[in-house]
Amino acid sequence: MLSKKIGIDLGTTRVVVYVKGEGVVVNEPALLATDEKGSRILAVGAAASELLGRGTRARAVHLARDGDGLDYGVAGTMLHHLIGRVCGRQRIFRPDVMLSIPAQVTGAERRAVLEATMQAGAKTAYLIEKPLAAAIGANIPVSSVRAVVVCNLGAASSDAAVIAMGDVVSMERVGPGGTALDQMILSAVAERQGVRIAPSEAEDLKVRLATATLPAADGPGVTIAVRAGHPSTVTISAAEVSSAIAPALDEIASGLARLIDQVTPEQRSQIAAFGVVLTGGGAQLRGVSGFLSGRLGLPVKIARDPQACIAVGTGMALENLQVIRRGQHYMT
Ligand SMILES: Nc1ncnc2c1ncn2[C@@H]1O[C@H](COP(=O)(O)OP(=O)(O)OP(=O)(O)O)[C@@H](O)[C@H]1O
Ligand SMILES: [Mg+2]
Repeated sequence: MLSKKIGIDLGTTRVVVYVKGEGVVVNEPALLATDEKGSRILAVGAAASELLGRGTRARAVHLARDGDGLDYGVAGTMLHHLIGRVCGRQRIFRPDVMLSIPAQVTGAERRAVLEATMQAGAKTAYLIEKPLAAAIGANIPVSSVRAVVVCNLGAASSDAAVIAMGDVVSMERVGPGGTALDQMILSAVAERQGVRIAPSEAEDLKVRLATATLPAADGPGVTIAVRAGHPSTVTISAAEVSSAIAPALDEIASGLARLIDQVTPEQRSQIAAFGVVLTGGGAQLRGVSGFLSGRLGLPVKIARDPQACIAVGTGMALENLQVIRRGQHYMT
């Protein structure tokens, strides 16, 4: 095989790269480190986060723009780097690259992203909508399934889509993403303990302690210490962390219920048979499938390797280009 087939998911916080025959080869922070003037790139991805963590005089440049969406200039630089890393700097055999994009991205933006992907070294560039890629990565037979709901719990938002016969028939932002959950934990700690922790510490608490359903209030409750400014340590229980994020989970459950309410009765019975499938890093939150299943009255499954699922599906779609038929993709 001379040209590699590469699937790339540029997320708000993570970039994931899947190569056919090799699997997931990159899963790193969506970050560049530049010099202080921002004119020279010093490091990319995990190396950038490591460099910035050492307190080096460098500037962090995120893939996500303020508000939502990606900064396509930064995305181009990231793509160039990733393609170079996967294919070698010489790029003798330029790869076929499939990139996942949010379903709501406009035609002009799609062309800009394709252009950037070609300039970054692709032989051929394709785009696929994230909900479709998520479904393919979750091993759902998208072109024959009569209705399935895929819900991606990402960092910037939680998005759900109904997919039927290979098409995204409806999709909606159903609630906040993991970054907002971190902020909720940070605020709760500030309010109750009078200590301002870093967002990364809040995320760490979430990953280590949070559950989608509240642990019994009078249970022992796991506690850990957090390094935080002046009072050197504070102790936080799993119950505190979990109750801080509960309103966000409630919003996601309601948003999903709203989306599912709009489908036809036939689609609803298909969804009941197949289940709602969760992807994205947030799908790893303890108890989330049980919580959503209870709220929706439907089976809820977590995709295998949920955080890499969109990248895997993006790469798999390259072997199966008919799944992105009907004007849903662009190629150059
Ligand atoms: N075990 C865990 N429990 C809860 N949340 C988790 C866990 N592991 C990762 N996360 C969260 O998942 C999010 C990252 O997921 P993912 O990589 O799917 O997002 P992204 O693709 O960068 O963002 P987006 O899809 O919104 O652009 C982060 O908010 C992270 O804190
Ligand atoms: Mg994502």
